[in-house]
Amino acid sequence: MSVLRIAVFASGQGSNFQALVDAAREGLLGAAEVSLLVCDKPEAPVVKRAEAAGIDTFLFRPKDYGSREEYEREIAAKLAERGVQLIVLAGYMRLLTTVLVEPYAGRMINIHPSLLPAFPGRDAIGQALEYGVKVTGITVHFVDGGMDTGAVIAQQAVEIREDESREALEARIHAAEMELYPRVVSWFADGRITLNDRNVSIVSGNSWK
Ligand code: GRF
Repeated sequence: MSVLRIAVFASGQGSNFQALVDAAREGLLGAAEVSLLVCDKPEAPVVKRAEAAGIDTFLFRPKDYGSREEYEREIAAKLAERGVQLIVLAGYMRLLTTVLVEPYAGRMINIHPSLLPAFPGRDAIGQALEYGVKVTGITVHFVDGGMDTGAVIAQQAVEIREDESREALEARIHAAEMELYPRVVSWFADGRITLNDRNVSIVSGNSWK
């Protein structure tokens, strides 16, 4: 089985990054290997996690560049040099341009803390609380040119409990993410995900369900 090199893009805490690294270590990522962390905030906690795990990083500060396209061209070159086949966005707080979205169409995924298409964009958990929904959740989707609009790969519902603090809800959503995201990456690595237009099908397999 050939290795599928992935690059994780993150800007913050990196709990999803850590979950992917841990899953790989436990042999739960199928043929995928975390080859690179791309981060737009060199001081973010996720960078420490990568260093501790011995994973290479590409760190940059957007303000050092004239445009988004300019730094994305640099990232694209880095990804090509490394043979990265899948981009996994995990709390990457920057909009992407066609420089990365086009060549990685069908090979770039994101995780979002709501049941899309409900509550796209920033602070999805806050949006759900403000709206007063009883059930929210998480979505893993392919990335297209829009904001959280790409084809849905997997979703999981999370009930909103009465008398629960926002922090407690966030923790449960995060725990669900850390469980689902590595699983989806392993499906991708095992070639079990097919994308037809907006419809994604997952072929059943013997590995991690
Ligand atoms: C996650 O909630 C993810 O859904 C969103 O950003 C958050 C990243 O958290 N896209 P972390 O950095 O993985 O802890």
